[in-house]
Parts: sequence; structure tokens; C-alpha cells
Amino acid sequence: MTIDLRRRSIEIITANQAPTGAYIACPNMDDYAYSWFRDGAFIAYSMDLVGEHDSARRFYDWGAQVINGRADVVARALHKAARDEPLGPDDYLHTRYTLDGREGNDDSWPNFQLDGLGTWLWGLRQHLALTEQTALPGAWAQTVRLAADYLHGLWRQPNYDLWEEFGDQIHPYTLAAIYAGLRAAAALTNQPNYETRALNVRNFILSEGVRDGHFVKYLGSDAVDASLLGLSVPYAVVDPGDPRVQRTVQRIEAQLRPDGGGVQRYAHDSYYGGGQWLLLAAWLGWYHTCAGDPTRARSLLDWIAAQADAHGHLPEQIPQYLIAPDYYEKWVDWRGPIATPLLWSHAMYLVLEREIGD
Ligand code: BGC
Repeated sequence: MTIDLRRRSIEIITANQAPTGAYIACPNMDDYAYSWFRDGAFIAYSMDLVGEHDSARRFYDWGAQVINGRADVVARALHKAARDEPLGPDDYLHTRYTLDGREGNDDSWPNFQLDGLGTWLWGLRQHLALTEQTALPGAWAQTVRLAADYLHGLWRQPNYDLWEEFGDQIHPYTLAAIYAGLRAAAALTNQPNYETRALNVRNFILSEGVRDGHFVKYLGSDAVDASLLGLSVPYAVVDPGDPRVQRTVQRIEAQLRPDGGGVQRYAHDSYYGGGQWLLLAAWLGWYHTCAGDPTRARSLLDWIAAQADAHGHLPEQIPQYLIAPDYYEKWVDWRGPIATPLLWSHAMYLVLEREIGD
């Protein structure tokens, strides 16, 4: 019997949304028993695309509560950043929270990441557009201003990338999410100064984030990272047909798709040995659909569907053609099996399916 992966993905996401509105990253892995702004925004977007608007609304309510409850942290972060004072662990908004909206208690795990809030603002804008709401509800208006001011005040600071690594670098992916977040804030609040700030970030990406005609993983590097797809889709720093994006995608395809199937994160990844990520395969398909190549997108959708287990669960990654095979067992010993089901994988499957237009 073939599994209806669209229906299963909606069921799995619905079943794993907490009463608070938070989406757990993965219900079967202690490390992932949190809700991330990044994962959550993509998950909410997928739910909006399939008409589950109430689920998305509850996630944005949860995020708004988390952020509005930390206006003091935002003020402190902006105050210190303006004076070039270093930020301590209580001086910035964390990247993930418990399902009831508290900070986690593992201090050794990096939390200073800016992309998630940018993605959250981008997703909120999509939610309002897809639900045809023109006015921004009061609590969300406060959140949009807090989040956008925070991103504007901190965007030049090195911070951890979306994979929670390389915290001493500045990442074009992160800047792209900030750009999209600031543009969303401009549209949602009717404040053109957020648009001006967004354009400054974009100019910076285009002047500092390109090398040999392609975008780079972080400033000063000449490597690519599969997440750079985000610069065109969905953050729209540049069009999918932009030559710099095309060169970036060619490199991602040549260097990070070992068998022409799934997509690895970056060249020296050792997390669970550095396997093929389902959400990145979907992201590449999303890009190809927007670039006018639905055939390539469809083969990526099929590849993802073929990775579902008997319960219709999609994992985070597939341990095939590993970059660093020795690390696979080490991670399994440290943290348990690869996260399955990963809600973000299901979300990106739904996004790609909708984009292809079945
Ligand atoms: C990934 C993050 C993700 C988190 C939860 C981490 O391993 O690097 O991008 O937000 O898992 O899915």
C-alpha cells in the first residue's frame, strides 16, 4: 500500500503541535524537544499552504508571546550592541525555546542565531497574505517591531549559522533571512525605514558575500552551503535566474549531491557523518520550480517520498554517501538515532508538493 505522504505530513505536524502552539522539532529525540523559530516558521508556512491556517496562527501566537515577554532582553541587546559591548547569554533572544516558551538549560549549546527571527517575520507576512488579513493584530504588531529592531541592531554581529555552527562568522544565509524579515516588517507596519534597513543588508550581501561569481557560506570563505538556496527562494535577495544564484546552485549540485539524490549541507559536515538532508532536497526542488524546471523538482519530490518509513515518517537526513562516515556511529552513540520524524522535513515536502502544483 502506498502512503499518502501529504496527508501523513499534515497529520504528523498536527499531532506534534503543543497546546501552546509551539511545534516540536522532532518528538523522538531529546535534543529536538524544543521549538525553533526557524523550523517553526517553515512548518507554519507549509500549514498555511495546505489551508491549516489555525495551526499557523497558533504558532505565531506562541512566538509573539515568547518575544513580547522578552522586550527587556531586546532593549538590553540593542543597548549593548550600540556600545560595542559583548552580549552575554542573557542579552539576546534564544534560537529555541521549550514548548511552554522557556529558555533551555543547556548552556553549552549555542543559542545566538539571528536567521530564525528573520524567517519568523517572513513567515508571519506569508500567513497574513494567505489568510487575506490586512490589519496586523495588536500583539503581533508589538512583536514585529521588537523583532525587526532587534535584527536591525544586531545584523552585523557574527552569530551561529542555521546549522548552529561557525558562531564567529557572518553568514549570507542569515543576512538573507534578516533581509526578508525586515522587508516583512516594512510591509506589515507600513514603516518604510525598515525597507531602507533591509536594502542596506542586501547591499552588504551583494558586496561582501560573493566570491568567484557565487555566494559563499560565510564572509571570507569560498565554499558553498546548500542553505544558500534561501537567498533566492524564499528570501528574494536575488531572482532565481540571477547568474550568482545559478553559479551557487551549480556548485551545490556538483559538490553536495553525491549520487544525484538528496543534498548534503556543506563540504566538511560531520553531523551524523554528513548525510543527505530531506529538507534540502525539497529546498532545491523549490528553487527549481521557481526557476522554471518542474521536472527536476519532481524528481527531488520523488526522492524524498522514497525515504519515508513504514509509518510515513521522514527523517532529518539519510546516512548514505556520508562525508565523514566515522562520525555516524559516534553521533548515534552520543545522541541516539537520526531525528525521525523531523517536522521541518515534512513541512518542506508539503511546500515542494504545493509548488509543483499537484
Ligand atoms: C539543525 C537546525 C535545526 C535543529 C532542529 C539542528 O540540528 O542544525 O537547523 O533548527 O536541528 O531541527
